[in-house]
Amino acid sequence: MASTSETPAPVSGITEEASSEAVPAPQTSTSPRSPRSPRAPASPSQSHPQSPTTNPQEASSAEVPEPNVIGVDQEWVDDADSALGDDVSTYSASLTSEVWKHSYEYGRRYHAYKDSSEYIRPNDEVEVDRLDMMHHIFKVMKGGKLFEATVPKTVQRVLDVGCGTGIWTMDFADEYPSAEVLGVDISPIQPNLVPPNVKFEIDDIEEEFAHPQPFDYIHCRYMAYAIKDWPRLVQQIYNHTAPGGIAEFTDYDLTYRSDDGTLDGTTLKAWGDDMPRAGRMIGREPCPGLHLETWMREAGFTDIMHKVYKIPIGPWASDKHHKLLGAYNFVMLNQGAEAFSLRLFINVLGWSYEEVQVLLAKVKRDLKDRTIHAYTEMHCVWGQRPV
Ligand SMILES: C[S@@+](CC[C@H](N)C(=O)[O-])C[C@H]1O[C@@H](n2cnc3c(N)ncnc32)[C@H](O)[C@@H]1O
Repeated sequence: MASTSETPAPVSGITEEASSEAVPAPQTSTSPRSPRSPRAPASPSQSHPQSPTTNPQEASSAEVPEPNVIGVDQEWVDDADSALGDDVSTYSASLTSEVWKHSYEYGRRYHAYKDSSEYIRPNDEVEVDRLDMMHHIFKVMKGGKLFEATVPKTVQRVLDVGCGTGIWTMDFADEYPSAEVLGVDISPIQPNLVPPNVKFEIDDIEEEFAHPQPFDYIHCRYMAYAIKDWPRLVQQIYNHTAPGGIAEFTDYDLTYRSDDGTLDGTTLKAWGDDMPRAGRMIGREPCPGLHLETWMREAGFTDIMHKVYKIPIGPWASDKHHKLLGAYNFVMLNQGAEAFSLRLFINVLGWSYEEVQVLLAKVKRDLKDRTIHAYTEMHCVWGQRPV
């Protein structure tokens, strides 16, 4: 993989050293973008080339397109072999009514594709909003970047594995208008109106991938508690990465920690210990971030880079960057605490619904407690499939 030449701009006055650990300098720096309002698809016009900066009044008449006439891209018309075009029919065919069904439990909505109890988190509007907030947290954490690897502007085939609401998929497609970007998830929570170079499919990523043609860049983010067989998934991602292509993972070590002992003995700590225990009881790794580098190496990836970010719980940090990150994380956790807990505590650990609600009240009290200085860690690991 090509090595870096640029260091990302510090966020809110803090240095790169202050925002992460074990940092091999990342590659291309992208400027921070304002978050898209949740669920709003990009306008198709966003992926069109920008107007020339020349004042149209001064341009010669030959350069000025007629108003209200939309030019036809002849290359697109002539490209009968377009992979995107081919896939559209596969996509339409795959959208059977089964994937649009949902199941309901404890007052929350869950996916119903295959066995609905497989994935422990809901997929309702509250969860969708939380995932979009989480997307913003990832971007703040990475200094405004959508990803860490160097992805050439000419990248063609991109896959977002477990794409959730599709917000990353669409942001990437906006930045890389010439790429075809496919998002796959088990839940139908993606918008219908999407940029022309984006496509979503409902599928189980633990099954064989449906697309035999390899991808130039595969992205897989925030799948803690979701995956039964991580080494198999990482191997499958390797097998579907084109020689010379890149795969990138971003995932949690969801161990709740504090460096000054302020988390010790709190309900927040007990909650933070019980959830991973329950996740492991049903074979869903809560801390995949810790193992990603090993799994990638075992799968065959080379030139592996690994970066670790701390994410404070609450705005307790003294530097502006971590204070902001912690504030967003507080909002996200406060909103997500129920979604994380219901199936793990009731279905796995055998608690009652009422007991969980009492626990959540105490957890939310601790989340607001200014004397508790807790954080979790996020691992970004990326590498190349050898040519
Ligand atoms: C925590 S969300 C992360 C979503 C997205 N990657 C992001 O970073 O915003 C995990 C996603 O994995 C999806 N998921 C869980 N198990 C899956 C499976 N076996 N196949 C496909 N998607 C799955 C869930 O539906 C959910 O949207």
